[in-house]
Amino acid sequence: MSTTIYFIGAGAIARSHAEAVELLPNADEIELAAADPTPAARKRFAEAVDDVRLYEDSESMLSEAVDPDDFVVVAAPPFTHHDETIAALESGRHVLCEKPLAPALDEAEAMLKAARENDRLLGSCNCRHYRTPGTERVKQLIDEGAIGDPYHVTWITRSQRGRPGIEYQPESKWFLDRSKGGGGIVMDWGPYEFATLEDLLVPDSVDVKHAWTAQPETAVDPEDIPFDVETHGGATLVYRTDERDVQVTYERASGTHGEERDVTEIEGTEGAIRWDWTEVGTSTVTLATDNDGDLVEESIAVTPDEDIEAHDRPLVYFDRVVRGGDAPIRTGAEAITSVAMINAMYRCAESGEPQRVDLSKIA
Ligand SMILES: NC(=O)c1ccc[n+]([C@@H]2O[C@H](COP(=O)([O-])OP(=O)(O)OC[C@H]3O[C@@H](n4cnc5c(N)ncnc54)[C@H](O)[C@@H]3O)[C@@H](O)[C@H]2O)c1
Repeated sequence: MSTTIYFIGAGAIARSHAEAVELLPNADEIELAAADPTPAARKRFAEAVDDVRLYEDSESMLSEAVDPDDFVVVAAPPFTHHDETIAALESGRHVLCEKPLAPALDEAEAMLKAARENDRLLGSCNCRHYRTPGTERVKQLIDEGAIGDPYHVTWITRSQRGRPGIEYQPESKWFLDRSKGGGGIVMDWGPYEFATLEDLLVPDSVDVKHAWTAQPETAVDPEDIPFDVETHGGATLVYRTDERDVQVTYERASGTHGEERDVTEIEGTEGAIRWDWTEVGTSTVTLATDNDGDLVEESIAVTPDEDIEAHDRPLVYFDRVVRGGDAPIRTGAEAITSVAMINAMYRCAESGEPQRVDLSKIA
């Protein structure tokens, strides 16, 4: 019996995952199946992917016989992730779920519970930009004491006109509808950002001291469909351990009238580091330190151990862990912590009340 990779949702990201199948060591033996209720999506998927079995719904697809290494990629919009993931786990298959794992923490916890009860792996696609070569080098520099004690992180990414559902992937209007996407640009990018911040700073808990969201207007804002998500958001966070508190200034915009900005920097008592945390290829880490009262900057070249594109990482890495190997991918409880952070940030923005995320209490 052959191993099958199943896709629930056959849209843009499912087509991208399907391209990564050829990178798997046993690519020639793998069969593919996909379920999507939209005929146009099935047609486009069939044109892009050879020899794929197509279904209108996941229930009939997952009633096929199970091979122990089968896995399901949940690649439909976020509001479907909870139900589709649990059904896939209960069918006896491992699940690699798109980010955000789920819009709400209680849903993510139920998904994790189903994975444990069915003795299957639950992995998150937020590994696209996780433990990138640059971020791994930054961790090493911090551990070596290159910047002394870290006390402040600036994590700002602002795009002026890059709103999913409008300028980016305009055909996917669900991105604009909170009931389908769970939120806006923080829900979209937070899964990557909060997984990386957690991995870097290893907090016991995180305080969301202050948070805000906004939806700046443009002349092309849709008026006849739901558009109730933020395109700009920010927070003041404190990543706490027994030894130190690190203040994090966080901001993410897919739509702003302000300037484009992209800054990832950690400041410490003896130096600072800047880098592009999303880059999975060759990159440069900038280390600034003091030398006799003058600031000196060193550019450190970083090269990846293996050449895997960001969009190929989730499938390649999940396949490795399903086969008992190691890979930089968040599975189990680690897969759900970024949902807790995003939820806490939204709660703080809505209520004006600070929130605490106790990571030791997450499943
Ligand atoms: N597009 C990107 O660049 C990108 C990148 C990373 C992650 N993602 C994530 O991937 C997921 C899907 O995004 P996308 O860009 O592929 O969206 P998309 O709009 O291109 O495709 C989604 C597809 O899911 C189908 N669908 C809806 N409900 C379904 C269900 N219950 N069962 C099966 N199929 C169903 C729709 O018919 C549609 O074809 C989201 O969670 C998104 O955040 C997208």
